[in-house]
Amino acid sequence: MISYKHEPFVDFTNEENKKAYEAALHTVEGYLGQDYPLYIGAEKVTTDEKIVSYNPADKEEVIGRVSKANKDLAEKAMQEAVTAFESWKKVKPEIRADVLFKAAAIIRRRKHEFSALLTKEAGKPWNEADADTAEAIDFLEFYARQMLTLKDGVPVQSRPGEYNRYDYIPLGVGIIISPWNFPFAIMAGTAVAAIVTGNTILLKPASTTPIVAAKFVEVMHEAGLPTGVLNFVPGSGAEVGDYLVDHPKTRFISFTGSRDVGLRIYKRASELNEGQIWLKRVIAEMGGKDTIVVDKEADLELAAQSIVKSAFGFAGQKCSACSRAVIVEDVYDQVLDRAVELTKQLTVGNPTENHFMGPVIDQAAFDKIMSYVEIGKEEGRILAGGEGDSSKGYFVQPTIVADVDPQARLMQEEIFGPVVAFAKAKDFDEALEIANNTEYGLTGAVITTNRLNMEKAREEFHVGNLYFNRGCTGAIVGYQPFGGFNMSGTDSKAGGPDYLQLHMQAKTTSETF
Ligand code: NAD
Ligand code: ALA
Repeated sequence: MISYKHEPFVDFTNEENKKAYEAALHTVEGYLGQDYPLYIGAEKVTTDEKIVSYNPADKEEVIGRVSKANKDLAEKAMQEAVTAFESWKKVKPEIRADVLFKAAAIIRRRKHEFSALLTKEAGKPWNEADADTAEAIDFLEFYARQMLTLKDGVPVQSRPGEYNRYDYIPLGVGIIISPWNFPFAIMAGTAVAAIVTGNTILLKPASTTPIVAAKFVEVMHEAGLPTGVLNFVPGSGAEVGDYLVDHPKTRFISFTGSRDVGLRIYKRASELNEGQIWLKRVIAEMGGKDTIVVDKEADLELAAQSIVKSAFGFAGQKCSACSRAVIVEDVYDQVLDRAVELTKQLTVGNPTENHFMGPVIDQAAFDKIMSYVEIGKEEGRILAGGEGDSSKGYFVQPTIVADVDPQARLMQEEIFGPVVAFAKAKDFDEALEIANNTEYGLTGAVITTNRLNMEKAREEFHVGNLYFNRGCTGAIVGYQPFGGFNMSGTDSKAGGPDYLQLHMQAKTTSETF
């Protein structure tokens, strides 16, 4: 693969970077409240009904309004995507990759502006917003290069008098359904993986964060993407989502989101609809209930720091977030006390002021998280946090619940907020057993200095992304390909060496001469 390095993170202790970010926030504030159209073929379509995006830190502030697709418009977009596929699939992979390289360059040029928009629209503190934008750039750069390595297929054997080839061809029209928690990186990454491999798509972003998606669509067209390749159809999951998942012309669905919606899509996609002549392919990356295991032989300061950072970064709203800390009893109190101490030092507030933690995404998330805090009071001891305030924005204090039973709801169900449960294990083996006791299998981390225990975890800790002596969030494209086992999804490793192939089908040709 042509050399690739991930986009560096911005150092906000540097005064110049700080000033540049403040200026970018100002730029974004200058265009708040604007309207954005749907993109259907060559047309920009404006509807009366809109999806309104609000700032979760200040619910009176409107970030923007996007037009809202319904079934008729989704159908129109599907027909445009079907037509565009006939020409886009024949465009050389080099040219397709070039669009991604250009889009990466445009976004890099406006990097702080995109991050500042994420601060406003998703409530991301600066470093979290910067990481989201960097990851979007990484996906563009990585998948473009990956396509160049796959463009001539993969060599296979030929006998004398025979010429065999193994080539990848695109699938057709894909439906890209993305979540709000990485509203730039995951939305853009899943979209461009499908596009660079020669497919045409309908992109349905999450309804809480559609503005960054609308801005991304503008960038892709500025970078030279022909119209009809990327059709932008924000809309209701239940209406537009179901309609497109069921559509007989849908060839594949790339979904990232919750377990329940993922399962619904998986099931519906398996139904044969009239006029459909293929089995739909489904990429589904879903939830997590991720654990950091702490051994008795371990750097305990590192353990506490890793738990706190992984549990409360972006208010715990990462599929990879640490929502369970399982600690060997010999060191349990020490790690717990230090984690509580660190948590009490964290600041929570408006992310434009760059607090450690901003708000959670909306009222429904706030209510759900606070209901788990109540459950936590029954299932354990609240040692930090436990409070929330949704009067201006949706703020929840980082919350530690101690002494939770491994089978308790707090240890089993995805909360998707700043709540971490601590459980005690009698030894390392039991800690691993607890770590594996959920239906999920996305990320995990082990803090240990015991090499044999590390190797045991490498074999037995059943998660798609396992980290040693660090936290369990922050996978980097091309370095730690990301995706989970069991109810965490189809283990389609985003940013990995075999991700693009999921968007193509292999064709064998054999010529005798
Ligand atoms: P969600 O499932 O509520 O929504 C995801 C997307 O699905 C949204 O665009 C939504 O509008 C759409 N949708 C809803 N109903 C639909 C339907 N019937 N048909 C088609 N689409 C429909 O998830 P969310 O709240 O946006 O995101 C949080 C969830 O995503 C968490 O569970 C988190 O763990 C998971 N997640 C997983 C990964 C991963 O890589 N495994 C990454 C990020 C987030
Ligand atoms: N890819 C994101 C992480 O690793 C979800 O934290």
